[in-house]
Amino acid sequence: MKQENKLQGIRLIATGRALPARVVTNDELSRTVDTSDEWIRTRTGIRQRYICGSESCQSLAVKAAQNAVSKAGIKTDEIGMIVVATTTSDYAFPSMACMVQKELDMENDVMCFDINAACSGFLYGLNICRSLLMSQNKTEKKYALLIGSEQMSRLTDFTDRATCVLFGDGAGAAVLELGGGLFFHRAWSKGDAEILFCQGSGFSDAHIRMEGNKVFKFAVNVIKDGIDTILSDAGLTIDDIDYVVCHQANERIIEHVRKKYGCADNKFYVNIGEYANTSAASIPIALDEMAQNNLLKKGMKIICVGFGAGLTWSSALFEL
Ligand code: UT7
Repeated sequence: MKQENKLQGIRLIATGRALPARVVTNDELSRTVDTSDEWIRTRTGIRQRYICGSESCQSLAVKAAQNAVSKAGIKTDEIGMIVVATTTSDYAFPSMACMVQKELDMENDVMCFDINAACSGFLYGLNICRSLLMSQNKTEKKYALLIGSEQMSRLTDFTDRATCVLFGDGAGAAVLELGGGLFFHRAWSKGDAEILFCQGSGFSDAHIRMEGNKVFKFAVNVIKDGIDTILSDAGLTIDDIDYVVCHQANERIIEHVRKKYGCADNKFYVNIGEYANTSAASIPIALDEMAQNNLLKKGMKIICVGFGAGLTWSSALFEL
């Protein structure tokens, strides 16, 4: 088997997720903005989303992390780094990773920082954690805690029907360790603040702005390209893969790509109906849901593909 760019493997020991208590249905949104359940479901697959009330991006991150650490059955002093992928942190600084460290009551000798690669953040983080675990050589701290947490409702203009129906809040987390299985990873970026962006705090319009159909075209192209590239690196075909987990931005995007490969319905995991687009949290939430539903078995090969503002995109192939 030709395997270009084979990397030291990384193992997902356990995952966790956290969602706000409040569910907002399409019908509820259609009472405040000119839209309908029918339009949202048929154009996106979204039925509902979770929106923060008393929760925050940080409290969701902490809960997802606690959930993953408890399922991993490890002690927090075995964790050498916390990396949070987010664009909606409670603070500009300190980083959310530092606040998760505080809430988990962890020791000082932990590297903590956030990354912003928008919806690709969790997959960028996967390779960052892997690289850091390889370089730090601390056998007593062999685990990394990688979190994707987003409070997209903070950046949402609830008068803009073109965006407000698309996003939701949530967090997913994973405990990671270096391992012997296959691992391939790619990441790309194409500087663009025209078709998908949100100005930072201090600007008059700190809301998500998107030219949906241009982002749709970008998404279908880069998901296909991300999958093809990683399969070529691994010397595998789509038939060798058990599941493809794409960033959940639109069911039609995923379906479009799935049809190009002629795969069975269930090979491309879809859960956008319940959560909407939770940006950097969507892939770890999906992985956690799949684990909970006993879909993930040792030895399976998974491809994940993320894409979003930046424009960034990334694909990873790993063995469970
Ligand atoms: O995570 C970041 C990555 N984001 C994405 O990947 C999102 C990619 N884009 C998409 O998912 C889709 O482009 C959308 C779901 C955002 C929009 O679907 P579309 O089929 O591309 O619709 P459109 O933007 O071309 O709009 C079609 C029509 C327009 O009306 P006219 O001009 O045809 O009269 C819109 O004004 O739908 C209208 N529209 C709506 N109608 C009811 C736009 N939003 C809504 C809405 N309810 N919420």
